[in-house]
Amino acid sequence: MFSLLYCVALLGTTVLASTGETKTCTVAHLPGRQDDGASIRAAFKECSHDAKIVLDQYYSVDSLLVTTGLRNVEVELSGTLQYTPDIAKWSPDSLFLVYQNTTTFWFLSGTNVHIYGGGTIDGNGQVWYDALASNHDTGTAGSSTTSFARPVPLTIGNSSNVLVEDLNQINSPNWVLTHLLIFYQSAQYCSLSINASSYSSNPAANSDGWDIYRSSFVTITDSVINNDDDCVSFKPNSTNIVVSNLWCNGSHGISVGSLGQYAGETDIVANVSVRNITMMHAQNGARIKVFGGNPSPTSTSGGGTGFVKNITFEDFFGSKVDIDSSDVRQCYETDATTCAEFPSKLTISDVHFINVKGTSSGAEGAVVVDIECSEECEDITAVGTDLNSPSGSAEFVCMNVASTAELDFNCTTPSD
Ligand SMILES: *[C@@H]1O[C@H](CO)[C@@H](O)[C@H](O)[C@H]1NC(C)=O
Ligand SMILES: *[C@@H]1O[C@H](CO)[C@@H](O)[C@H](O)[C@H]1NC(C)=O
Ligand SMILES: *[C@@H]1O[C@H](CO)[C@@H](O)[C@H](O)[C@H]1NC(C)=O
Ligand SMILES: *[C@@H]1O[C@H](CO)[C@@H](O)[C@H](O)[C@H]1NC(C)=O
Ligand SMILES: *[C@@H]1O[C@H](CO)[C@@H](O)[C@H](O)[C@H]1NC(C)=O
Ligand SMILES: *[C@@H]1O[C@H](CO)[C@@H](O)[C@H](O)[C@H]1NC(C)=O
Ligand SMILES: *[C@@H]1O[C@H](CO)[C@@H](O)[C@H](O)[C@H]1NC(C)=O
Ligand SMILES: *[C@@H]1O[C@H](CO)[C@@H](O)[C@H](O)[C@H]1NC(C)=O
Ligand SMILES: *[C@@H]1O[C@H](CO)[C@@H](O)[C@H](O)[C@H]1NC(C)=O
Repeated sequence: MFSLLYCVALLGTTVLASTGETKTCTVAHLPGRQDDGASIRAAFKECSHDAKIVLDQYYSVDSLLVTTGLRNVEVELSGTLQYTPDIAKWSPDSLFLVYQNTTTFWFLSGTNVHIYGGGTIDGNGQVWYDALASNHDTGTAGSSTTSFARPVPLTIGNSSNVLVEDLNQINSPNWVLTHLLIFYQSAQYCSLSINASSYSSNPAANSDGWDIYRSSFVTITDSVINNDDDCVSFKPNSTNIVVSNLWCNGSHGISVGSLGQYAGETDIVANVSVRNITMMHAQNGARIKVFGGNPSPTSTSGGGTGFVKNITFEDFFGSKVDIDSSDVRQCYETDATTCAEFPSKLTISDVHFINVKGTSSGAEGAVVVDIECSEECEDITAVGTDLNSPSGSAEFVCMNVASTAELDFNCTTPSD
């Protein structure tokens, strides 16, 4: 794909020169597909600061990687790191993360960390795609249980100043990259190729590209994603995020949310800029998903509070997008009657669609935009909209939008 210098120039990044490594740990692989986990963990321990770690071979990984406390570290991943397709082993043994009972094969954290090298992280997802299609075991939170976990290939959390570039990720059992943390940080992802592709008739379910949670100052750019769920997803407390120059195929769009799922929680997504996105064969395009309200104080399906504010989707080109190139739902996974009685307590405002263009798949008839708010959404604007359905006509559905005069299309009310 692109060269390292390309990302450096593009991002104006400073992470590179600062490492000044004094030591190199090159990880040797064991013959005959033995578990290379112990050697990898040992290298990350030995070379945990002011150092370089080289992963230039084929590695079979059959045990959890938790590599934390890194400081000024370069990770050159030019080989292939492949997780074993062992559901019984990984389900209890992968690391459970805080959000939605997701688990991971590899949790990495540190300060000033640069991961690059053109290599591949292979999630060996096919067994999980096939098992999920028959067991439907997604637990109470929609992700993993201790008997059927679908681990995320790489989770970067509790970190600051991380740059990940020039890597391939294939066949993730679940979300591909999660970005989680509790404290301030910055992270940049550039020139990644993500491909979750099923060889059977079962989909590569839930194979989100990036899921960002409790993180700030994250940049994602110049990457190619082929998957079967969100291309990028902004989970609770994603702020100050820039996403640009992506080619997404087969996805569910670039999504804010879902938010407001848990009663008693406050979810914030703010200051997000998404631009220059090509969205092919997608279920949705630019998307915001917020649960409705819920009377139960312990609800795990709506009732949370918070806000979505200052979100810009700019230069979106869609081809064969099923449901709405611009899609805002404030009653996500909440039935209309419940949502009318208990409107969402999570506000949506200051959302801008600029130059959203393309043709839908026709799966929703002529509907190309659907913006349905339960409480009123404020300051939603659209300029440069140029959307069509295969039939040539286009319908724009809106409900409870305070600023319809700031939309460059005429709204019709939802029919249901
Ligand atoms: C995670 O799973 C446990 C049981 O495995 C369950 O008690 C808990 O409610 C789940 N977490 C969420 C957020 O749903
Ligand atoms: C991340 O940081 C939080 C807060 O310090 C801590 O509770 C959590 O255990 C850390 N996660 C990992 C996997 O190290
Ligand atoms: C993803 O992988 C499949 C199967 O190897 C291949 O056919 C497809 O072209 C790949 N897509 C991208 C975008 O690399
Ligand atoms: C938009 O993104 C594509 C990659 O999908 C890239 O080739 C193109 O140069 C980008 N355009 C601009 C103006 O940055
Ligand atoms: C793009 O997505 C479609 C629909 O999922 C799929 O049939 C096609 O193979 C994908 N193309 C590439 C290059 O991966
Ligand atoms: C999000 O941030 C707000 C404000 O700092 C905080 O009150 C809330 O608990 C956070 N929510 C989550 C899910 O982390
Ligand atoms: C959004 O950005 C503005 C301007 O930089 C800043 O004042 C505000 O605190 C940010 N909001 C959040 C929730 O981070
Ligand atoms: C809106 O978000 C963008 C992108 O993060 C940021 O540059 C801008 O300062 C924010 N504007 C306000 C008014 O917060
Ligand atoms: C919206 O409807 C008005 C009144 O029928 C019409 O004059 C105007 O051209 C329409 N605008 C668009 C963008 O279709």
